[in-house]
Amino acid sequence: MITTSVTDSATPRVAPLHRQSTSPATIARDLAIESRWPAWFTPRSRSARKVMATDDMEVWLLAWLPGQGTDLHDHGGRSRPCPAGFAVASGSLTHYTVVPGEVPRLNLDVIGEHESATVPATGVHALVNRGDVPAVSVHVYTPRLTMMRRYLFDESGLWLASMIRAGADW
Ligand SMILES: [Fe+2]
Repeated sequence: MITTSVTDSATPRVAPLHRQSTSPATIARDLAIESRWPAWFTPRSRSARKVMATDDMEVWLLAWLPGQGTDLHDHGGRSRPCPAGFAVASGSLTHYTVVPGEVPRLNLDVIGEHESATVPATGVHALVNRGDVPAVSVHVYTPRLTMMRRYLFDESGLWLASMIRAGADW
């Protein structure tokens, strides 16, 4: 299982930068293009740092060495829908999304530099740096991310593996 390094030191709280009608993926792309946040990499796992927070949105900067990634997860599911989006500031990430159905299947997209993707409010997804150079990405959650549920996926479908909560697990 892949673990995550998370830090939340000196997170600035700022006024909303964008209109509420702007999608998380669009906000993430704009921030990825403009980003001057320093990213650091650790050999143990991807690194994650909260770089911005408002009452109804938070922004994280993630840094991924080749081979680093996440497990399949959602952002709370139907009980706590959390529309999200992300964009790649440098490098590329492979985005796996679960396509619901009688037997769910995995879809795969490669998200390149300054490209973005939407994570549906109850969607299950995973990200992996399958490239051969480090990658940096910006992730926007609306509202703020309070929990994630990890899943296992095999030929029989999707299985809930664990649940982690903000304030307790990151
Ligand atoms: Fe996610």
